[in-house]
Amino acid sequence: MRVCIGWRRLLLLLPVIFLFPHIISVLQLHKDSTIEHQHQKLTKKFDHLVFGPAAGEGLHDRLQCQGTKALNKTHFPSSPRNSNYGDGISFVTVFTTYNSTADSFIKSRSSEQVSVGKMSYNKVERSMAVLNVFVNFLERNRVTLYPIKGEYSRDKLMLQRIRSYIVFLEQKLEEQSQLQGRISHYIFTDSDVAVVDDLGQIFKDYPLFDLALTFRNNKEQPLNSGFIAVRGSRSGIQRAKVFLQEVLEVYSSKYMKASRMLGDQLALAWVVKSHPSFNTKRFTRQQPFEEKIGGASVLFLPCATYNWTPPEGAGQFHGMPLDVKVVHFKGSRKRLMLESWNFLNSSPSPHISDMLCLILSSGRTKYDF
Ligand SMILES: *[C@@H]1O[C@H](CO)[C@@H](O)[C@H](O)[C@H]1NC(C)=O
Ligand SMILES: *[C@@H]1O[C@H](CO)[C@@H](O)[C@H](O)[C@H]1NC(C)=O
Repeated sequence: MRVCIGWRRLLLLLPVIFLFPHIISVLQLHKDSTIEHQHQKLTKKFDHLVFGPAAGEGLHDRLQCQGTKALNKTHFPSSPRNSNYGDGISFVTVFTTYNSTADSFIKSRSSEQVSVGKMSYNKVERSMAVLNVFVNFLERNRVTLYPIKGEYSRDKLMLQRIRSYIVFLEQKLEEQSQLQGRISHYIFTDSDVAVVDDLGQIFKDYPLFDLALTFRNNKEQPLNSGFIAVRGSRSGIQRAKVFLQEVLEVYSSKYMKASRMLGDQLALAWVVKSHPSFNTKRFTRQQPFEEKIGGASVLFLPCATYNWTPPEGAGQFHGMPLDVKVVHFKGSRKRLMLESWNFLNSSPSPHISDMLCLILSSGRTKYDF
């Protein structure tokens, strides 16, 4: 179990949910950056991109690259990363910032600069930069900020995040009863993700689910809490809310001491697995599936496509699926998130697939950002 050393030093976190109607997002949890601190002493971290072989070479269903040139153009140059038709989608992220006045560690570090391209960032500016790139990838400039009151202390952050989601959904239910018309679906994500394809499709392809979660073949933590999609219908929001309330209860009663940062994922898994008819073998196959959990219809989506993380270190892995939709820059990969955006933005013919090749071939390095 990973314990977060750096976390202890983050004194105060400001509770904020940024909402970007139609495409919203932002919740930078320092879940990963804290783990980063721990490794810092052990591993060299690079202040520039380091390239290696692109994994998955020769596999027909994986992205094939020649340097940063994609041989499979799977994502169109200007493919809409969110639906311009049908129902809207809002990305929601909870974002907490450091209080550098109160935090002496942060203050002492505030002169430490890290450069990406022409820009230089201190410790506090880094999380804002990640947030900015998160928004840039969503291609929307309509951002709404929802300050949500709560207890955002370091050991309650993940618990509070679920509470904030619930408050948010309650607010949406209330608004819905006043307004009629076009609905918006909600996707709650971490803010260190790049959405590289249209996610509106899942609501059309799977018309029955109330909420969607991403899974991987991992016994202890089969579910990742960094991606939760909620159907924007009245019943969808209502059932997702009840589901999250159960997760919150399980978290409070079972996992408060387990681990500060992983409690939400453990609670999610507990709620799902404790359902009598649930077959955990389904997590071993990379196929989406639907299951009734309590009163909610839950869609399970493979992380490989909807929450893909470049693997670190030497572990075996099989490259990047051609249909990847969300890239998650966990841990010390956040430099890569900014570099990827810069790469896309500075190319005369920007192509998402080429950027994915850059991520694939440089994603195993630990970075300093
Ligand atoms: C991806 O590109 C490679 C190399 O050009 C090609 O052999 C492979 O068939 C392509 N895969 C798909 C699914 O089109
Ligand atoms: C930051 O910390 C200082 C000192 O503890 C405090 O006075 C200030 O209110 C805090 N700022 C916020 C926004 O919480």
